[in-house]
Amino acid sequence: MWIPFLLQANEADMQANGMKMSAEDIYSVNQSSLKDAVVLFGGGCTGGILSQEGLLLTNHHCGLSYVQNLSTQEQNYLENGFWAMSKEEELPNPGLGVTFLVRIEDVTDQVLGGLEVGISEELRDAHIRDRSQEIRTKVTEGTSYGARVVPFYYGNEYYLIVTQTYSDVRLVAAPPRAIGKFGGEADNWLWPRHNADFMMFRVYAAADGSPASYSENNVPLKPKHSIPISLKGVQENDFTMIMGYPGTTMEYLPAAGVELVQELRDPVRVNLRAKRLRILEQVMDAEPDMRLTYAKKEAGIANAYKKWRGRVMGLRKNNAVVVKADEEKIFQQKVDANPEWKEKYGDLLLTFDSLYQELAVAQFMVDYFNEGGNIIEVIPFAAKISNTAQIFSESDNPDERMAAIDNAKSQGNRFFRSYRADMDQALMGAVLEGYMEDVPLELQPSIFEVIHNQFGGNAQAFANYAFQVSPLVNQDRFDEWIESFEADSLYKDPIFYMMVSLNQNYYEYLPTYQQYTAAVDSLQRIYMQAQREVFADKQFYPDANLTMRVTYGKVEGMEVRNAVQYNYYTTLGGVIAKHDPKDYEFEVPDRLIELYEAGDFGRYGEDGELHVAFIASNHTSGGNSGSPVVNAEGHLIGLNFDRNWEGTMSDYFYDPNLCRNISVDIRYILFLVDKYGNAGYLLDEMELME
Ligand code: ARG
Ligand code: GLU
Repeated sequence: MWIPFLLQANEADMQANGMKMSAEDIYSVNQSSLKDAVVLFGGGCTGGILSQEGLLLTNHHCGLSYVQNLSTQEQNYLENGFWAMSKEEELPNPGLGVTFLVRIEDVTDQVLGGLEVGISEELRDAHIRDRSQEIRTKVTEGTSYGARVVPFYYGNEYYLIVTQTYSDVRLVAAPPRAIGKFGGEADNWLWPRHNADFMMFRVYAAADGSPASYSENNVPLKPKHSIPISLKGVQENDFTMIMGYPGTTMEYLPAAGVELVQELRDPVRVNLRAKRLRILEQVMDAEPDMRLTYAKKEAGIANAYKKWRGRVMGLRKNNAVVVKADEEKIFQQKVDANPEWKEKYGDLLLTFDSLYQELAVAQFMVDYFNEGGNIIEVIPFAAKISNTAQIFSESDNPDERMAAIDNAKSQGNRFFRSYRADMDQALMGAVLEGYMEDVPLELQPSIFEVIHNQFGGNAQAFANYAFQVSPLVNQDRFDEWIESFEADSLYKDPIFYMMVSLNQNYYEYLPTYQQYTAAVDSLQRIYMQAQREVFADKQFYPDANLTMRVTYGKVEGMEVRNAVQYNYYTTLGGVIAKHDPKDYEFEVPDRLIELYEAGDFGRYGEDGELHVAFIASNHTSGGNSGSPVVNAEGHLIGLNFDRNWEGTMSDYFYDPNLCRNISVDIRYILFLVDKYGNAGYLLDEMELME
C-alpha cells in the first residue's frame, strides 16, 4: 500500500521484481501517467479508465446499487444485464461521481509546524483543522478542484490531496446477475472464484473537458491517460501491480487492539448479522420479486459478515495476538536499552493494555446498539417521532404543534415507503434474543426487566405484542394516530419504551467509549512514530485511508493447508462445473453454456480454455474493488474484486504466504462484452495489445 508520489523509494525493488515501468510512468505531475487513469468510483470503490472516450471499468458489486435503481420488475437490468449499443443508449446515474487525483503533496510541516510541545489533544486538533482549512482554501480557490488534507501514519504526517470530480457518469454495460454475481454469497470471499464481477460506465464532461452535472450536451471525457489492455494473458510469477483506493487497514495495532477485534468486536457483529441475514434471505427465497428490492442490502450485510468470520478464523489460527506480542517484546527490549526511547516510549505498551481493558465493555455495548438495537428499523423511527412529543410537552402554541404533526407525517411517509413490518418484527425478536445470549444481565437495557417479568423471558413474544398494539409499525394506524396525537399515548407505547430503554443504555456507555477510543487513537500516533524510530531499517507503508495507493506482487497460487494447493487461475469450464439450475446463486444463463460448448473463444482463449479469474500476492483491501490490475508494462490484465478467505485477516495481519487478491481475467470481460453482450463495438475504442 505504497504512496504513489513517494514511489521512487520502491522503484528499484519493483524493477528487480520484473517491472518495466519507471516510478514516473506510474505517478507524475509533469506528464500523463497511470494515476490519471485510476479513479475513486462513488464513495468507496475504484475504477480504471480504458479509452480516450472516458470508458470506465469497475466491479459489478460497485455498480450494483445504481443498476438496482435503474431497474424495475419489468425492465430488470440487474437480473438480465444491460448492454448499451451506442452512446445514446447509455443511462445516467444521479448521485454517482468519479474522482481523479490531480496531485499529492507532503504538507506535514505546514500542518504541524508551530505546535507547542505538550499541547492538549483538543488544541492540537484545532490547530490541525485550521491549518488544513487554510491550505485547502488556497489550492481550490478559483478552480474546479477539490482538496483534502489527510493524516497518514496516524497523524504523524499530513498530505494534501488535490482532486477533480466528474458527476455525469453513465451506465454502459452490466452482465446479468448470474454472471456478474455468479456464486453469490456462497462463493464470496473464496477462492476458487467464477464470477465476472465487472460493469462499464462512461464519464462525461462539458465540451471544454471540465466537470459538469448531467446534460445532453456533455461529451465523453478525454482523459490524460487510458490503460492499454493486454490480450497476452498471465503466467504464474508474472509481476502485477494494482492502483486503487483501499479504505481502512490497521497493520500497526498493538496485540491488545487485535485481540479486541478478534475476541469481542467481530464475534458479536457476526452473531447479529447472521440473525439479520436469516430473516432477509427467508423473505427473498419465498418472494423472488423482493430480490431486486433487497439486492444491495443483502450484499452489504452478507459481505462484512463473511469477512469478519474469515478474519476471526485467520487471526486465531495464525496466532496473530501471540505473534504481535512477541514483536512487542523485541520493541520493548530495544526501547528499554535506550534511555531517550525509554523516557518517551517506555510505558506505552502497558498503557495500551489498560486503555483497551477500560474500553472493552463500552465498545461491546456500543457495537451492540449500532449493529443490533438500532438496526431494528422502527427504533430510530420511534426516536424521530419522540421529537413531536417533546414539542407537545414544551409548547401550547397550535402552530408549533401543527408543524410538529406535519413533520411527523412526512417522517412517516418516508419511513413506511420501504417498511416491512413482518421482517422488522422478526428482527426485533432475534436482536432481543441476541442481547439475552450475549450481554451479561447486569449490562442489559431496562426493557429486559419487562421481557422477563411480563413475557416470561420470551423476547419474540414481546416483539409480537409490540407490533400488535403499536401505531408505529403500520401506516394506516400511524396516520390515524398522528392526526389526534397525544404525547401520553406515545409514552405508553411498548416500542417507544423500548427505544428509550435502548438509547439510555447506549448513552450510558457512549462517553466511556468516546473517551477511551480517543485515548487509544492518540497513543496509536505515538506508537506509530515509535515503531518507525525503533525499527528504522524497516520500510513502513502507512495504513490505508481511502487515498490512492500502489501495491505490487506477483501472480501466484498458494498452499492453503497441508497437501492442498490453490491453482492461480480458474476457467469457464469451472463455471459450467458449478452450474446448478436449482440453486439461484449457481444458475448459468443458457447463452453462456452455448458459448462454452461452441468453444469459440477466439483471441480471448488460451490453449482451448477461457480463463476467468486469477490470484496474486498484492496487498489490497476493501475499496480496492474495481482496481485495474496491470502487468510489468502497465497494461491491463485484470480487474481486482476480492480476497481469499484464508487472507481476510490481512487488514490487521497481512501475511504474504496466506493472502491473495482475486481478479477477473480481462480476457473473460472482453469475451463477455464481445460475444455475450454483442457489444464488441466497445473494443474499438480500447487499445488492445495482442
Ligand atoms: N467480497 C468482495 C468485497 O469485499 C465482494 C463483495 C460483493 N459480493 C457479494 N457477494 N456480496 O467487497
Ligand atoms: N470486494 C472488496 C471491495 O468492495 C475488495 C476486496 C477486498 O476487500 O480486498 O472493495
